[in-house]
Amino acid sequence: MTDTNTNHLSWDEWDELHNPPPAVTDFDRVVERAISRRGFLSVLAMGSAAVAMGSVGNLMSSTSAQAQEAASRFAFKPIDIATDNTIHVPEGYNWKPLARWGEPLFSTASDIDPMKGVSLENSDKVFGENTDGMELFVIGGAQVIAVNHEYVNNETNLPHAPEGMPQSLDDVKILQNMQGVTVMEVAEGENGWAIVVDSPFNRRIHHNTPMKLSGPAAGSELVKTAADPAGVDCLGTFNNCGAGKTPWGTYLTCEENFNGYFGSTNAEFAMPEDYKRYGIVSETRYAYEKFDERFDVSKNPNEPRRAGYIVEIDPSDASSTPIKRTALGRIKHENAAVVIARDGRVVVYMGDDERGEFLYKFVSNGIYVPGGDTSKLLDEGTLYVAKFSDEGTGEWLALTEETTGMKADEIAVFTRQAASKVGATTMDRPEWVAINPVAIEAYCCLTNNSNRAVLKDGKMRTNAGGDVMEINAVNPREANEYGQIVRWYPENDDHADGKFKWDLFAMAGNPAVHKDGVYAGSSNINEGNMFNSPDGMMFDSTGLVWIQTDGEDSNEGEFAGQGNNQMLAGDPVTGRIERFMTGPKGSEVTGLTWSADKRTMFAGIQHPAAPFPDGEGKLPRSTIVAIKRDDNALVG
Ligand code: FEO
Ligand code: CA
Ligand code: CA
Repeated sequence: MTDTNTNHLSWDEWDELHNPPPAVTDFDRVVERAISRRGFLSVLAMGSAAVAMGSVGNLMSSTSAQAQEAASRFAFKPIDIATDNTIHVPEGYNWKPLARWGEPLFSTASDIDPMKGVSLENSDKVFGENTDGMELFVIGGAQVIAVNHEYVNNETNLPHAPEGMPQSLDDVKILQNMQGVTVMEVAEGENGWAIVVDSPFNRRIHHNTPMKLSGPAAGSELVKTAADPAGVDCLGTFNNCGAGKTPWGTYLTCEENFNGYFGSTNAEFAMPEDYKRYGIVSETRYAYEKFDERFDVSKNPNEPRRAGYIVEIDPSDASSTPIKRTALGRIKHENAAVVIARDGRVVVYMGDDERGEFLYKFVSNGIYVPGGDTSKLLDEGTLYVAKFSDEGTGEWLALTEETTGMKADEIAVFTRQAASKVGATTMDRPEWVAINPVAIEAYCCLTNNSNRAVLKDGKMRTNAGGDVMEINAVNPREANEYGQIVRWYPENDDHADGKFKWDLFAMAGNPAVHKDGVYAGSSNINEGNMFNSPDGMMFDSTGLVWIQTDGEDSNEGEFAGQGNNQMLAGDPVTGRIERFMTGPKGSEVTGLTWSADKRTMFAGIQHPAAPFPDGEGKLPRSTIVAIKRDDNALVG
């Protein structure tokens, strides 16, 4: 049966617990990498990670004039850590809730019952749970936010069910309806921002919403089911984590830990070999498979192969059909950072958030022409995976029939396996990618990796495909619990180029606990700005990078002095990082976008542990908050 004692765990934690990657050994590689590691550590020991890693060192060489100019980029007084149950923002700023779990999108829904949560009848008409990636669209004068609901806390949504485990198909439907995506119009009034109830843009997309498969996997034998013999019509989008926005005004929602929704009611069923790489196992925390046959892999073995994609949604048309863009690969997608290359091709950067998995890039065949046909841009192109050298260079390895020996549909469905074949670099859990709008460079949060270079039974830990997680320059720490942010500069200033240079923008650490060495962090981390587990990341229009954390918030031991999860701003030019916001205890800060006039910043608070945002005696509710300056000046 499902382990109901693990409902408090995040998706990533639950998945690690149930799908520990296998251990294999390759002694020669271990030794080889250990030597490289010593070389790298000796540089770090001199207190100049920056010298080895590149331009973090620019911080030290800034002239005072540059420093002054840089200082003016932080228009706020940095704040201290917090350990309480609310949000803190700098002096001169304020915050208010915009949308809470269970708030009606339509007047036919009633507000949440503070004791019973959301009824089945209301569950597809209200704001879902656990807000995550989001984007704001301006559509004919309306401001429309599309936002993900990554997962649900069973006990919160099913208070009547023992330990939150579904007892019926109705219970399963509540959980299915509370996840997915919300599209909603928002407006600012006298009392701040609010959902425009009954706006024609308002829409819930959930685990049963009809959508289309397109690209190389559409129509493949790998995705055909009894209910969909053509392999093109699927239902639902799952574990929607980060997001993206195309220049043509569509929303990209990213399916991350989709594996957790598919289980088997038949203990004798031989799980297909490819399930292992994605962590599809017979037990689930949601028990969908017990009441909804579609999720029972012993009856529908291809169903999990129809999830794990990037899904394109048109927020301007509430009746439009979402499209699963399989050309962008099937991985545990974190977000989708879109940029247009020099020649007009569309480039999408994507992380696969699992220990030892990879960083990807898609480049379209076609050119983006404003106002032109964009329907095939994300269907036809080449998927690449990143290989980082220890010398600060890297290359994008194409995943093609020639390089992998796999057919196009196999590459689209078994993308991790394809990437292993070409020798991609195992990474410390790639989370969000962010693209600098004022420089040709991109960043990725590598959140942490407790298994990096860790031995188990005398063998070095691997990802689920057997790729060893040795120490390398881009993932330079054993049992990495703090995380780092890698940055790359495409060759020829072109995001479509096959080569890049890279450095580490920041290596998180704890200089209060570790006085020196790699766990103290890079030179731009200090006792006043330290954090762990960078995850969400977005640039604002001025070129500041906003970093959100999803880490250990015990404020003890290795994490003493780091407080609750938080949001910080970083300056790409100087490396300076300052803390802007702290979230309530137990929560993760994730999801960021701005109002059309850039006078409001919207940030997401996911899974708060204690009553939030409405205070004692009320349910803890995942919430998007609106943050403004008291003087209504620009915030991004
Ligand atoms: Fe949904 Fe990897 O965070
Ligand atoms: Ca995340
Ligand atoms: Ca995370």
